[in-house]
Amino acid sequence: MKQNIKKVALSLVCVLGGISLSNAQKAPQLGKASLDEVIAAMTAEEKAELLIGPGMPGYAGLVPLEGEPDVRVLGAAGGNAGIERLGIPETVFADGPAGLRIQPKRENDPNTYYATAFPVGTSLASSWNTQLIEEVGKAMGEEVKEYGVDVLLAPALNIHRNPLNGRNFEYYSEDPLVAGKIASAYVRGIQSHDVGTSVKHFAANNQESNRLSVNAHVSERAMREIYLRGFEIAIKEANPWTIMTAYNKIDGTYASASDDLLKTVLREEWGYEGLVMTDWFGGYPGFETITDTTRSSDVVAQLEAGNDLMMPGTVAQKNALIKALKDGSIDEAAVNASLKRILNYILKTPTVAKYKYSDKPDLKAHAEVTRNAATEGMVLLKNEGDVLPYTNKSGTLAVFGDTSYDFIAGGTGSGDVNEAYSVSLIEGLTGAGYQIDTDLQSAYVPFVKEMTAKEMKRREENGGLLADVQRIPEMPLDKDLLAKKAKASEVAVITIGRNAGEQHDRKVSNDFYLGQDEVKMINTVSEAFHAEGKKVIVILNIGGVIETASWKDKVDTILLAWQAGQEGGNSVADVFSGVKNPSGKLTMTFPVDYNNHPSAANFPGFPAHDPKEVFYEEGIYVGYRYFNTFGVKPSYEFGFGQSYTTFEYADLKLSTTSFTDELEVSVKVTNTGAVAGKEVVQVYVAAPAQLADKPSEELKAFGKTEVLKPGQSETLSFKLTAKDLASFIDAQSAWVAEKGTYTVKIGASSLDIQLKEDFTIAEDITAEKVNNAFDLDAEMETLKN
Ligand code: BGC
Repeated sequence: MKQNIKKVALSLVCVLGGISLSNAQKAPQLGKASLDEVIAAMTAEEKAELLIGPGMPGYAGLVPLEGEPDVRVLGAAGGNAGIERLGIPETVFADGPAGLRIQPKRENDPNTYYATAFPVGTSLASSWNTQLIEEVGKAMGEEVKEYGVDVLLAPALNIHRNPLNGRNFEYYSEDPLVAGKIASAYVRGIQSHDVGTSVKHFAANNQESNRLSVNAHVSERAMREIYLRGFEIAIKEANPWTIMTAYNKIDGTYASASDDLLKTVLREEWGYEGLVMTDWFGGYPGFETITDTTRSSDVVAQLEAGNDLMMPGTVAQKNALIKALKDGSIDEAAVNASLKRILNYILKTPTVAKYKYSDKPDLKAHAEVTRNAATEGMVLLKNEGDVLPYTNKSGTLAVFGDTSYDFIAGGTGSGDVNEAYSVSLIEGLTGAGYQIDTDLQSAYVPFVKEMTAKEMKRREENGGLLADVQRIPEMPLDKDLLAKKAKASEVAVITIGRNAGEQHDRKVSNDFYLGQDEVKMINTVSEAFHAEGKKVIVILNIGGVIETASWKDKVDTILLAWQAGQEGGNSVADVFSGVKNPSGKLTMTFPVDYNNHPSAANFPGFPAHDPKEVFYEEGIYVGYRYFNTFGVKPSYEFGFGQSYTTFEYADLKLSTTSFTDELEVSVKVTNTGAVAGKEVVQVYVAAPAQLADKPSEELKAFGKTEVLKPGQSETLSFKLTAKDLASFIDAQSAWVAEKGTYTVKIGASSLDIQLKEDFTIAEDITAEKVNNAFDLDAEMETLKN
């Protein structure tokens, strides 16, 4: 029935568009006629139909419609509209990035459509293991394909400019090389199933406050070296099918309408030929403006810049485009180029291939993939007295912290996956054979249940998926009970939890810094247990950076577990027990103080309550590039992470000491401890700074060993090109590897440099000449070394 209504509606559209049915029969068909013929046959209405998405399924603009929408994949975020007359099918896009986000249940359907919740971006990246990420991507890609989706709206690889960004958990790192390499692996894994990805949010989307229209003032050098570099790597190495432009403005222009970003850099310089879509309602200044049905984004500017598809699409955008097409105020060639890119994309999809998806991906196998991946992303921050691995299963563990009993699998918003189950820390430890103190358990479980229900209700009433996230308060602990538990149990485990997501940035107090209730919990538990000579282990179930300097000395061990996906509790138990040796390292700095980050002075911008402008005055000095160069000591530095074993670095070899076009660096790593483990090896370079100032260290390559048994060695080698060594020299509009002496520094972290070797470049090498772009639209001084 619904199908028939659709057909009638389509014929009406054809008639309204001035096409008779007999013409319709003769119309060129996608896949049979050439793309030029299909495009030439399109009416203005049909062009607009394809360039502007059909809206969010189940919504009129932002207003939810009653009943379940008649769509192929319930809970998908959108897709392109189909045009039956021309044989153009609808295809389906769904979020991303911690797994496929679709509705798990459908009306009058006994089947379920759960997807696997994989570890969040920060967790995946902390593995520094591109092979592992590719495996994760393959598992996700199978779910995408088997649930009938064409494009996963992921990966998300914006730079961690500031620790408070509410979506940092979806992103990978403060370093563009890490972000780019991890994203490449992710894209390769997913696209190996012949489904698409959408690399997002392109670019400089580094905050959620006023995300739809905040104007990010960024220097060209910082754009190219920091905010674009990861995208450049992912696009050139993995060729994602699609790219999603960011909401924000860059130097005065919406990213989705930026000639510099899309025409000059993406298409001309990087040669990208795929599809570019907006973020949802991108180009509208605020969500409130979307509900005004007469308002459109500037679709002419967006299309002429090469942003091919407006998602999810509004009627006002369609009307604006039809008008521009009819009165000739839009460049027809740009429109046709966009249409071609959309059609080329559609031709690649499983939809066109008529792939018979099963709705039955191998969730069981993927549970193993996520369980394993999460363990590799865990970072052992502290392990005094080798408390971990904790192998004694005879006594009881006293487990504190609300989050231990309701472990957080991932963040909120569009990145929230609808998984079938999620393993809590308690379940994970119990499953691994540990005995958990039952008094604490029976006090915590109802407390957490009640508090969580209240918080979920509050969120429901305040925007649902896009509501601000508030942490539930820690359950107050009675002093006598604590003293009793310290006597009776073997060790204390405390979980500190954090959650955040789309639309809101995190807060400085009671979020980046611990809340008073959490400080009290750490203090009282540590005092009670240390008084009995017992150890205290902290598990951090967080998506982004928190303050650690003020409390880390009070506890014995800190395991940064991140938001580890649906198998989180099992993954922690694997590391806790020593089944897995942690090998993750930080992909971002954990500062002593929030204000140590230079961006703190300019986050989230001005005015603070509703930021319209944000000035990236720190320039290229983001994360460790700042902390190392300016000698500011962090609590835990970029690249840091301990292991249950130890490694020795030796035999650093450079293929040449006078660089011409390529350098090979090799180094031998040996496991010198008592248990098997993997090591992340980081290659930093210090470059001469005549043409421009440079950070004291910049990551230029990294690798991870295989599992090395005690005594076993592996030699890792890395190739560096002139582009890798180059900085962006503004005055020359070029990437230049300047002449002088370079130092290769092999680090176990960005501060723990194990080996060094110099090489020279005789004359400046212009690795790449580019166009002038991203002129500042306001005066701004950027930080220099
Ligand atoms: C988010 C995107 C997401 C899109 C579709 C937007 O609000 O910023 O990351 O892919 O919604 O759900």
